[in-house]
Amino acid sequence: MDSREIAESYLSFFKKQGHAVIPPAPLVPPDDPTTLFTSSGMQQLVPYLKGEIHPMGKRLVDAQPCFRAEDIDEVGDNRHTTFFTMLGNWSLGDYFKTEQLAWFWQWLTEELKLPKDRLAVTVFEGNQDVKKDETSAKIWQALGLTKEQIWYYPAQKNWWSRSGEPEKMPAGEIGGPDSEVFFEFTQVKHDPKFGKTCHPNCDCGRWLEIGNSVFMEYEKQADASFKPLPKQNVDFGGGLERLTAASQNQPDIFQTDIFVELIKADPTENLSDNRLIADHLRASVAMINEGISPGNKKQGYILRRLIRRAAIKFNDPKNLTDFIKYFQPQTEAAAVLNDEIKKFSTSLAIGKKVLSRAKTIDEALAFDIFQSYGLPFEVIAAVTQVKLNRAKFEALLEQHSQKSRTASAGMFKGGLADQSEITTKYHTATHLLQAALRQVLGIHVRQEGSNITADRLRFDFAHPQALSEAEMQRVEELMNAKITANLPVVKTIEAKDTALKSGAMAFFRENYPNKVSVYTIGDFSKELCGGPHVGSTAAIGGVKLVKQESIGAGKRRIYAVLKEIYQPGAET
Ligand code: SER
Repeated sequence: MDSREIAESYLSFFKKQGHAVIPPAPLVPPDDPTTLFTSSGMQQLVPYLKGEIHPMGKRLVDAQPCFRAEDIDEVGDNRHTTFFTMLGNWSLGDYFKTEQLAWFWQWLTEELKLPKDRLAVTVFEGNQDVKKDETSAKIWQALGLTKEQIWYYPAQKNWWSRSGEPEKMPAGEIGGPDSEVFFEFTQVKHDPKFGKTCHPNCDCGRWLEIGNSVFMEYEKQADASFKPLPKQNVDFGGGLERLTAASQNQPDIFQTDIFVELIKADPTENLSDNRLIADHLRASVAMINEGISPGNKKQGYILRRLIRRAAIKFNDPKNLTDFIKYFQPQTEAAAVLNDEIKKFSTSLAIGKKVLSRAKTIDEALAFDIFQSYGLPFEVIAAVTQVKLNRAKFEALLEQHSQKSRTASAGMFKGGLADQSEITTKYHTATHLLQAALRQVLGIHVRQEGSNITADRLRFDFAHPQALSEAEMQRVEELMNAKITANLPVVKTIEAKDTALKSGAMAFFRENYPNKVSVYTIGDFSKELCGGPHVGSTAAIGGVKLVKQESIGAGKRRIYAVLKEIYQPGAET
């Protein structure tokens, strides 16, 4: 089967098992400041995995284009890409391990016709919070796998959340143990460089992970414990590129039908560089097609970095321009690529001149060159042939981002921008702000809008005049008093009418479903909201109101910043 047939077979198999096909999310998730890109199929489903009712039911399936910047340095081997299509299916509190593992196995062995003896599975070995997953192991055995085909691994390999292992999860993040399926390319010899013996998670290239069933059943709490979610969910994801490689018994995903034309173009003599070029330019085209332009911040910066990392591999930029024709007929994308490459050639020439005159080439100079000419770290390292320390360079970038408050700390990580803990704090602080404003100014105060970035919260509300300094101070003091009091933030699921009657605040009341999630902060605040929120208010640390302004007749806007990142005099 070619990759298109594999995707169709997967969707139709799960449709037969009662799943609704949902549209994939855009590559840049709307209204989500915590993340730069959609990096897994579950991202658009987080509120539903947490208990909200999905309009299309409890069994969902899709094919989701994903981008993972965190894998950028892995690209070049036989299996890593930054951009890929994730085939995904979900149970929102419906079926669980028995059905999931049996269906995926059936699809792999009967539809894709993978030989059973070339498959192995892994399950979670357990930790202090969650016990060993013997249930999954028993299901695999019942499906006919031998004991030798079932491997146990720790959380590092068999626990999934958007932030990784349990200890890295911020409060409010969901995750759970998982069970992965691996395909063995018996024609690839184990490379002892990667360890004495080979095993499914060995990195030598003999084994390839082709699917991950996450049993999404826990929410991390502010006290670092794990609370069971209201329902046990399944979140499955399998990379189409890898499933295609297994189905075609082709250990190099760049030789499957997805990439073969690009690789055939053979733009350089180095296989690993050719793979990087194919991956990076394919990812760039997908981004450009979704409206992203190369730039110096956020998604635009990642796009610029991809194009320039690919461009530097060509000795002659003209070859790159020729290579781009493989992306036809996406002419618009080709024009953006060409334009960016032109800009790159100019800044590369200037950057090279500056570098050649420099007495010492260190991370500080590399950062200056990056700032002034947009040359990414790896391009500078390649041009100068000097061994530079990436961590030092990134520390400078981080310092600069904090200073200029551009919310760019996630630029090098991609996917989840590691900001979720901060934005979760801002979510809860916004509820405190609304309650405090109502207490200080009166109950006519109502939310008219809200916007949260990793740098600040912004809250719009109805009020006829500017707040006096004393009022601003009282609101801030009240919020901080509630933070110090460490009030619990409790989520309940209630009937919409009951919740509204009990005085819960609601922003778009007509848009809420009949069953709603409600967040209550002590006896201070109660709001209809999808979350996420901190477990109790002390986690916020403290807040500072930094600015107020008018946004039209009878409407005010307030900006607040977490004390931990507040800088006196900084612009909001
Ligand atoms: N969310 C899991 C992953 O990305 C499975 O869909 O691997």
